[in-house]
Amino acid sequence: MKNYDLIRHVKGESQFVDDILVPEGLLYASVSYSKIAHGELININIKDAIKIKGVRGIYTVRDIPGENQIGGIVPDEVLFATDRVEFIGQPIAIVVADSQLIAMEAARKIEIEVNELPVITDPREAFKADQLIVPPRTFNLGNIDECWHQCEYIIEGSAESGGQEHLYLEVQGAFAFPVEGGGVKIISSTQSPTAVQRVTARILNLPMHKVEVDVLRLGGAFGGKEDQATAWAVMAALASFKLNKPVKLILPRQEDMIMTGKRHPYSSDFKIGLNKGGKIIGYEVTFYQNAGAAADLSPAVLERTLFHCTNSYYIPNVKATAISCKTNLPPNTAFRGFGGPQAMFVIESAIYKAAEEMGIDPLEIQNKNLLDEGDEFPYGQKTENCHAKITWRRVEEKYNITEIRNSVNEFNNNNNIYKKGIAFMPICFGISFTNTSMNQASALVHVYTDGSISVSTAAVEMGQGVNEKIRQVASKVFSVNIERVKTETTNTTRIANTSPTAASSSADLNGKATERACLNILAHLKVTAAEILNASSSSHIVIKDEIVYQDGTKTNLVWNKLIKTAHLKRVNLSSHAFYATPGIHFDREIEKGKPFAYHVYGTAVIEVTVDCLRGIYKIDSVKAIHDFGKSITPIIDLGQAEGAIMQGLGWMTIEEIIYDKKGELLTDALSTYKVPDIHFTPDVQIEFLKNSENPFGIFKSKAIGEPPLMYGIGSYFAIMNALKQFRPDARFNISAPITPEKVLLNLYSKVYANIPIQ
Ligand code: MTE
Ligand code: HPA
Ligand code: MOS
Repeated sequence: MKNYDLIRHVKGESQFVDDILVPEGLLYASVSYSKIAHGELININIKDAIKIKGVRGIYTVRDIPGENQIGGIVPDEVLFATDRVEFIGQPIAIVVADSQLIAMEAARKIEIEVNELPVITDPREAFKADQLIVPPRTFNLGNIDECWHQCEYIIEGSAESGGQEHLYLEVQGAFAFPVEGGGVKIISSTQSPTAVQRVTARILNLPMHKVEVDVLRLGGAFGGKEDQATAWAVMAALASFKLNKPVKLILPRQEDMIMTGKRHPYSSDFKIGLNKGGKIIGYEVTFYQNAGAAADLSPAVLERTLFHCTNSYYIPNVKATAISCKTNLPPNTAFRGFGGPQAMFVIESAIYKAAEEMGIDPLEIQNKNLLDEGDEFPYGQKTENCHAKITWRRVEEKYNITEIRNSVNEFNNNNNIYKKGIAFMPICFGISFTNTSMNQASALVHVYTDGSISVSTAAVEMGQGVNEKIRQVASKVFSVNIERVKTETTNTTRIANTSPTAASSSADLNGKATERACLNILAHLKVTAAEILNASSSSHIVIKDEIVYQDGTKTNLVWNKLIKTAHLKRVNLSSHAFYATPGIHFDREIEKGKPFAYHVYGTAVIEVTVDCLRGIYKIDSVKAIHDFGKSITPIIDLGQAEGAIMQGLGWMTIEEIIYDKKGELLTDALSTYKVPDIHFTPDVQIEFLKNSENPFGIFKSKAIGEPPLMYGIGSYFAIMNALKQFRPDARFNISAPITPEKVLLNLYSKVYANIPIQ
């Protein structure tokens, strides 16, 4: 079962926003943005720009008919700067012109006068200056203050993790055109059509029903278009509204990299206590999240950080505090894992440092503290169908860990310059939007008179294969050939009030809604079939492979005939259905509840080889046992796991985002921002955990989009373990990504210059 889009992608026939056939009179927009990270905005001079031939209009905050506000969770973000600028890349105006080149040239001619103010890019500095996005939050379990005396070992330290560029292949963009009655239709590359609709309505001062948003597919998003696709769509809509013309706004790659937020960098402090046997007794952690200049999704990301602070481990005494710090960088945003990876990196760092202090391998501590059935998370939920230990044990067995460890040791004994390291990485990731109210979706299913089926849902296809999963659901419920099923664009007129396609939940939520809609129609069809066949009730009827069975016996009634007859009998062949995840809740007053429908588990072992002379390394292999539940689309799920692992490896190793002290992005192109390529790709082996059926997922499957990314964290510690072989007495700081430059700085810093090389 392959991704529905596969053939079209390969042939280059798939359409993205920039491919849509353009109507006559199309105009192009380009964004003028701040080159200063912090200051009072004194004046915007458009005189030279407006004179350029082909420029049709320039719009700033003064041209907004409604409210200049795009904030999703906190109303703290303007569409266009008003009296101050807060980051480099902050939009100030848009230029609309006859061609993209003219628009870009004019945008460059807009002059901005700014009274510069001090720039803060570091979250801890922001914290000291009391610049917070929202008040800090703390999760507690047990009694942290009274647990330390039970500990034989207490280790304190800090850990840094960097940002990450989404690097979706399709850049941010939208296309808007006016419709009858003063409305606007927008084709947007967004994960959240409803967010685009809501914010456009707010900015243009229109009721939401006058704004229609349509999404065909995205060329990747990875969280980067959950909140941050909105601004560009709204700008295109504003221009089209003003000029009564179609307008397209596509960000050039470099501007996309400069203007949009990324994965949140975190700076964290930890204190971990263990008893003699290596059991973790207490864990205290403070996360300083670098939110950038506005809230965007930061408070939700922060929350997911707290939910994942203990990863796959049971720790009886926990205190975790998370602080969202406001800095002069573009607002950071959702990125695959949504704050979970940042939290899991810190507990793994704490375990690593504890093992170093205790003179043992970190995997001994990891292994001893894995979650068991019924264990309580710091947020009050207890594990159910916990697969932490099963996947760990299966990794040890399947990949013959004793043999791997022996061969690594042998390699290290025989090599002076090259050193190998391995690390285990267990994961436990909660599935559901942490904001309970967002866990809802709906579907609209039509069966046409020729027997073909059309499905609309709230899900956005962005390469993750959700459309294929939805087709599977419809074809299974009706028991018809999958070729009969077509998924439609995601459209706010057909499906209203959608949650973004995010949190790895879109197949669960929209799949369940689709299942319900199909079941509604199927119930009508069975009644019709019973009438046609003179059966006493529809309970005698089953449809299998497009044929109607009565009491288990094949009849002459086939799908097409059944549909035609049902239509003539005036039976409803359409259904809209709704689904909301049952049984989840969370109380933010006491920070306890059951926020997740279920958890995804798995364990990976990562092996690396480091060249300790040059600092470069090779990720040799990632071998995992992953809990896919009962996968309905194994090839798609495997592709998701592999892709997520690569993205996780990149985040931990070579992908480094650097802003200078003035808040300027130095890594704003692929020449300076390195991502994994085919040569970087290790041997990835993934086994599907057997006998795992998930009662809370669609057709007993489990969400797959984000969780495997966190296996990548193991690569950081595998590299650290290799470095330890080269300099056994050194104590390196924890600072990801561990780029080759950082490997060299670690190995040959002044501090370690006198320590003999092994
Ligand atoms: N896979 C591809 N190819 N492209 C993407 O943009 N986004 C990821 C993941 N896999 C993404 C992807 C993210 S961040 C999420 S939350 C999930 O897909 C969302 O889709 P799902 O809910 O259908 O898993
Ligand atoms: N995950 C991903 N995206 C989100 C979430 C979440 O928990 N909450 C809001 N947007
Ligand atoms: Mo994914 S970060 O939830 O879009």
